[in-house]
Amino acid sequence: MRKPIIAGNWKMNKTPEEAAQLVKDLIPLVKDAKCDVVVCTPAVNFAAVKPVIEGTNIKLGAQNVHFKASGAYTGELSADMLKASGVEYVIIGHSERRQYFGETDKTVNLRTVAAVKAGLKAIVCVGEMKDEREAGYTDMIVTYQTQMALHTLTAEELENVVVAYEPVWAIGTGLTATDEQANETIGVIRKAIAAKFGEEAAAKIRIQYGGSMKGSNVKGLMAQPEIDGGLIGGASLKAEDFAQVVNF
Ligand code: PGA
Repeated sequence: MRKPIIAGNWKMNKTPEEAAQLVKDLIPLVKDAKCDVVVCTPAVNFAAVKPVIEGTNIKLGAQNVHFKASGAYTGELSADMLKASGVEYVIIGHSERRQYFGETDKTVNLRTVAAVKAGLKAIVCVGEMKDEREAGYTDMIVTYQTQMALHTLTAEELENVVVAYEPVWAIGTGLTATDEQANETIGVIRKAIAAKFGEEAAAKIRIQYGGSMKGSNVKGLMAQPEIDGGLIGGASLKAEDFAQVVNF
């Protein structure tokens, strides 16, 4: 059985002081969680958050990683830097990075390879836009994005990858995919992985749903057989809200 994983994506929110307070509030609320719990905070907050979550079941995550080990890449962070800061998970290819910062399927692949080779766990995001779903291209898009992101990994490296299916039209909009839509598309992603890595690897990999997931809809989504967790934006910014999702 796949262990569920619920990760908070704080995006560009929280100062170090606010971040430390949020995890302090979160610790008692999620201590009995049956899933893996991750908080992906802005990098400036690692030093404030890490000592607070030390020895708890909350894991530290980042929101991006560069594919080179070092060099003239102003504004970027390497996988080794993240590792050295206590980071275990990193989100890669979030649709906001694809939309606003020129992220491509190619760079998503490079970042994913760099992350897992450095010993990080990658949360690789895929998902269709609204017009793509309406045109009937969802399966094609998520298959292509998934295979492009992962194709150069070995099956062993794939064990350190989580995929997040995030329909772009559901992110931050209050619109959620229906339980069945999310389950069906995650099934398509699992098939795309099976085609590249075999049935065994596909059965093992955890695939999250993301897009306006919250306390009120988490139960239905998590009851679906293909859905192994969530990547949570808005509802991860308050301890009580996030705990409701974690304790689905
Ligand atoms: P949301 O964001 O929960 O606010 O829709 C999810 C995400 O972007 O990962």
